[in-house]
Amino acid sequence: MKFFIDTADIKEIREAAAMGLVDGVTTNPSLVARTGRKFRDVLVEICDVVKGPVSAEVVSTTCDAMMKEARELASLRGNVVVKLPLIAEGLKATRTCADEGIKTNVTLCFSPNQALLAAKAGATYVSPFVGRLDDISSDGMALIGDIMTIYRNYSFATQVLVASVRHPEHVVVAAKLGAHVATCPFSVLLQLARHPLTDIGLEKFLSDWKKVPG
Ligand code: E4P
Repeated sequence: MKFFIDTADIKEIREAAAMGLVDGVTTNPSLVARTGRKFRDVLVEICDVVKGPVSAEVVSTTCDAMMKEARELASLRGNVVVKLPLIAEGLKATRTCADEGIKTNVTLCFSPNQALLAAKAGATYVSPFVGRLDDISSDGMALIGDIMTIYRNYSFATQVLVASVRHPEHVVVAAKLGAHVATCPFSVLLQLARHPLTDIGLEKFLSDWKKVPG
């Protein structure tokens, strides 16, 4: 299972990379806006720090305009993955990108049928948003299970990138279901490492060590 970090904050990316937890990065317009920096500057800096796939989202809503953005973004660095919204025009752009050899992450996926269409359009990744489904009393992780079943039934090459991850249990269930990738905020990556018994055990070892002569 691969871990991507879901942030455009270069400091967080460097910290997580130092722990060996960054196989790739996902960004979106909201995350980029939080940096207060120009999109291209942020993207190039991230791509120079992380050698794995870095998702960069288009902000157009027609296929032609999306393709213009997609070609520009993909030309910036070899590890850019173009993020396209799961709408009809986005599927057209996904197919065109696949034909041109541009990698894609089809985002804002909320149903099994949407994921099926993304795979048929030739998406490299599909991003089901589990946390946002949970937010409206739907079952985000059930969607991941459905997509994994459908993709396995037909041996689709599209990778399931679990997005909108809010807590460690999302990651556990994603791993049990065999999802290819989980993209996590930095705070969730840190939570994955924590256990109260680890802290208690470490404190005891360190206090006992003080009693050791020499
Ligand atoms: C990642 O690709 C998504 O943009 C992100 O995980 C969305 O997360 P949110 O629902 O917490 O904004």
